[in-house]
Amino acid sequence: MTATPQLVVALDLPEKDAALTLAARLRGIVPWVKAGMELFTLCGPSVLSALKDMGFHVFLDMKFYDIPNTVAQAVRSAARSGADLITLHTQGGQRMCEAAREAADSLRAAGQPAPLLFGVTVLTSFGPGEMPGITAEPSAFAQELAQGAARWGLDGIVCSAQEVARIKAVAPSLACLCPGIRPEGSAQDDQRRIMTPAKAILAGADYLVVGRPITRADDPTEAARRILSEMHIEKA
Ligand code: C5P
Repeated sequence: MTATPQLVVALDLPEKDAALTLAARLRGIVPWVKAGMELFTLCGPSVLSALKDMGFHVFLDMKFYDIPNTVAQAVRSAARSGADLITLHTQGGQRMCEAAREAADSLRAAGQPAPLLFGVTVLTSFGPGEMPGITAEPSAFAQELAQGAARWGLDGIVCSAQEVARIKAVAPSLACLCPGIRPEGSAQDDQRRIMTPAKAILAGADYLVVGRPITRADDPTEAARRILSEMHIEKA
């Protein structure tokens, strides 16, 4: 768990230059940025090093889901790329998550940096009844997956802010990283299990991940500042 909740801006942009230009505007205001499938698939590790050079903590959101050996090796690659925090699917199960844990631990034991490992539970875009083959409510299923993540040694989980309280009650060691954050009055987009920044902080979220409400704002810097002030944080 982080002492102070952190804002992470999702740089979901189709061009490296546009991502770095936006990052430059957020520098010194926001502590974390996220490169995910859209940006990283196009730009690769060079975008991560550029963001690190600008002073950001970097979250690589590729949501690994594969056989244990492949995920363990991907954790090693992510570490070499400079990622500070990465995601893998908790639905990859115990052996996959433990292989990721062992890879990160062995890097640390060798004195090398290793990313924090966060397990995706139920995507915040899923509403009730939308998960193929899953009859459980999203929040109940997220809690079950989070309990697995805690047993398998992950550092945290990705969940909706709506389920942070119930997850913290059963797995207090896990940091909760929450997408689906929407300031009052902003568009829901494709997200379903959403919460405002202020309510997410009250619920106990450790990291808030915000994309479009900032990246598509007329003034992204001002949008980020407003969210930080809702979180009661003035600057990075
Ligand atoms: O634009 P928006 O604020 O909805 O962006 C949310 C970000 O968080 C996106 O980059 C998305 O890939 C990511 N994310 C998510 N739900 C998860 C995990 C990651 O929305 N469970």
